Amino acid sequence: MVKQRESIERLPAYVQGKSIAGAVKLSSNENPYPPLESVARVVRDQVETMQLYPDMSAQALRSVIAERQGVRIEEIAVGAGSVEVAGQLISASAGDGDEVVFAWRSFEAYPILVQIAGAVPVAVPLTADDRHDLPAMAAAVTERTRLILVCNPNNPTGAGVTTAELDEFMRAVPEDVLVVVDEAYVHFNDDPESADGLDFFRRYENVAVLHTFSKAYGLAGLRVGYAIARERVAENLRRVALPFGVTALAQHAAIASLAAEEELNERVRILVAERARLLGELRAAGWNVQDSLGNFVWLRTAERTPDVDAALRAQAIVARAYATDGIRVTVGSPAMNDSFLAAIRTIDPA
Ligand SMILES: Cc1ncc(COP(=O)(O)O)c(C=O)c1O
Repeated sequence: MVKQRESIERLPAYVQGKSIAGAVKLSSNENPYPPLESVARVVRDQVETMQLYPDMSAQALRSVIAERQGVRIEEIAVGAGSVEVAGQLISASAGDGDEVVFAWRSFEAYPILVQIAGAVPVAVPLTADDRHDLPAMAAAVTERTRLILVCNPNNPTGAGVTTAELDEFMRAVPEDVLVVVDEAYVHFNDDPESADGLDFFRRYENVAVLHTFSKAYGLAGLRVGYAIARERVAENLRRVALPFGVTALAQHAAIASLAAEEELNERVRILVAERARLLGELRAAGWNVQDSLGNFVWLRTAERTPDVDAALRAQAIVARAYATDGIRVTVGSPAMNDSFLAAIRTIDPA
């Protein structure tokens, strides 16, 4: 038998949100809207040159992002989705035996990416109300800690981290430990008290921010995300990046999406309003749900999780169930949300 890294064979597989023919898919935090025509057109044009490699340095896209975010192009690193960029950040910072701290439950790729890098995942439980326990995360930092992931808002619970909380945390974290603020859902975050990753990047040398085109911009299928990091870190991200990982289709679609931001923001506003409607209707039906700052809501179903999930599936609603923690339901189009609400009303919230 060929030798394989034992640590890799023990890794849990990333579980993709299920899709079932004919069912309403609310399992992957995808944008329910079809691509904008202006973006689809650019992608169609790129098909004509798909025999060519993309620009590996993604110069044009990085320059548009840098201008949009008010940072330098040298401070932007791209990848095939922000999940690849998260992997780059981890690989560039932590190796064999180094530790990476993150909250749990959070984005399920974190422990997998950490172990692929040969590093040790340090998962710090969320508070009783499903928020990051930042004091406990600061206390979990050791000599071996190289990187800390702060998911704001948190996937799957939807809870945010405030400016005051993150400032206090940054004061407790050593300056040589990189703190990555994962803002995959930043466009849906309407809490004025919430920490703003870019503001923290400007104020702290050891902060990097992770953004994606998958959620608000609706490009999940094309795979493009980026980090805003100090030049030295961003350079290292480019070193560990998968060469040519971001296709020309993805690069051009991202540029076109930034040009169409106003139109896309209108969709975001609708989704944020739908989120409020979902939360209100869930509460009216007796569900104890907390506010969410992402494009999803979190049902704390605990040990009833498999049963509630099965009851939703029986009514053609596919959400994302997490063991015996809870069920994450993506905010869909108004019609998709109506279907979900009709199904959940048949289920006992107790
Ligand atoms: C918190 C968080 N970060 C990163 C990602 C990765 O998204 P993508 O690789 O599509 O950019 C996700 C996707 O669900 C997420 O929930």
